Amino acid sequence: MFRARIIGGMFDVEDIRRLKKRGLVMGRNVKIMSGVVIDSSHCWLIDIGNNVTIAPGVHIIAHDASTKYHLGYTKIGRISIGDNTFIGARSVILPNVRIGRNVVVGAGSVVTRNIPDGMVVAGNPASVVTTTTNYMNRHRKAMKKRPVFDTTWTLHGKISDKKKHEMKRMLRDGIGFIE
Ligand SMILES: CC(C)(COP(=O)(O)OP(=O)(O)OC[C@H]1O[C@@H](n2cnc3c(N)ncnc32)[C@H](O)[C@@H]1OP(=O)(O)O)[C@@H](O)C(=O)NCCC(=O)NCCS
Repeated sequence: MFRARIIGGMFDVEDIRRLKKRGLVMGRNVKIMSGVVIDSSHCWLIDIGNNVTIAPGVHIIAHDASTKYHLGYTKIGRISIGDNTFIGARSVILPNVRIGRNVVVGAGSVVTRNIPDGMVVAGNPASVVTTTTNYMNRHRKAMKKRPVFDTTWTLHGKISDKKKHEMKRMLRDGIGFIE
């Protein structure tokens, strides 16, 4: 949080309430994880829908001062993130980008262009990998073959040391799923 403040008014999650007061639009059931930076200096240009998850370290940046020294002006642009969208860890969302509903943005993506509804995108610059429907169907199928753990296997459910070892063993040859 401290570092973020030094580089020109980027605040951290603790300041979300303040950003909303300044005009950030945020829907219901938005999950914002640690180390997320939302552009405080132009936060009224940012609209976040309902049921959006923003994973650790994501940067949502509505301005671009790369022109400031030469032109005397900074580029600015609106950003919107549609309902039920997931933004993967350490992704960067640049100004003038509309991300649709039911989108999955892969970890470490740089989103430079609009993303239509229902797409999985990844990479720098982010490009379409598949549709969200295909992605979810693939993993729904995988859940029938791979280990699925309930909440007793989580920190919240006070997972035992024995279960931690058991989980490692069960995941030795592939992914699993946890509630
Ligand atoms: C993008 C993502 C949704 C794809 O999931 P998936 O389809 O199950 O992933 P797979 O491992 O089957 O990879 C599919 C392909 O996409 C590539 N890929 C996966 N994730 C990628 C990413 N973040 N960036 C670039 N390429 C990626 C893989 O290398 C693979 O390419 P290949 O077919 O050429 O080998 C997932 O990898 C991801 O990044 N999820 C976000 C995780 C996250 O942010 N977690 C934070 C805590 S909540």
